[in-house]
Amino acid sequence: MLELNDISTSYGQVSMLRGVSLHVRKGELVCLLGPNGAGKSTTFKALSGLLPLDGGTARLMGQDVAQKGTEKLTALGVGFVPEGRRLFPSLTVRENLRLGYDASGCKTSFDQRLEMIYDLFPRVKERMGQQARTMSGGEQAMVALARALIGDPELLVMDEPSLGLSPKLIDEYFDTVARIHAEGKTVLLIEQNAEKALSIADRGYLIVRGQIMVEGARAEMLADDTIKHMYL
Ligand SMILES: Nc1ncnc2c1ncn2[C@@H]1O[C@H](COP(=O)(O)OP(=O)(O)O)[C@@H](O)[C@H]1O
Ligand SMILES: [Mg+2]
Repeated sequence: MLELNDISTSYGQVSMLRGVSLHVRKGELVCLLGPNGAGKSTTFKALSGLLPLDGGTARLMGQDVAQKGTEKLTALGVGFVPEGRRLFPSLTVRENLRLGYDASGCKTSFDQRLEMIYDLFPRVKERMGQQARTMSGGEQAMVALARALIGDPELLVMDEPSLGLSPKLIDEYFDTVARIHAEGKTVLLIEQNAEKALSIADRGYLIVRGQIMVEGARAEMLADDTIKHMYL
């Protein structure tokens, strides 16, 4: 569903990703771990078509990212949760969800998809008429995830979704992601919170200074000395 093959990118003269390869198969929950500034969001930008590649190839849903761009990828069934949520602050929750739905090309009706969202996030139902900017951080995190899910994407790609949440909300958030995965979604979860991410992931990658340093199944990641040293 997602395949980065030896990609490199740069910001001006400064190279950032250097030969990054990673893949996500249908049904997997894969995490991309790494410290601050390691290149996680750069990877997100590269795979979502927001940043041109200097080399290598990026494919999502079998399509070349460079030829498609973010909008077409969304319409093909990819739900993006960008870093910092990026809600439309002055729009209501309903309007934010509607924009996610309209971008998706989903065939099920908006109202039917809303029922699924309410089932997953009961608190969103009471907040539909509220401006996004007036919501708490935890609520905004849920709305950003709901906006990505409402179009029923096959693949969900999230960039540090739990950043800034309290420990209790982080636990709730990861439980929700685990449930979404258990119900059939394929997920790439980009996270600094290695312990939480590895608790729900099938496999993972560690990126450091623009390069993949470690990769493996959950148990291998948990046993890896570099990861233990950095995080656990
Ligand atoms: N638009 C930009 N212009 C120049 N440098 C950038 C830009 N965005 C990110 N960087 C730099 O690239 C590196 C990786 O950033 P990023 O991918 O955002 O890291 P993170 O793993 O924390 O998400 C950092 O050193 C950051 O300062
Ligand atoms: Mg980042």
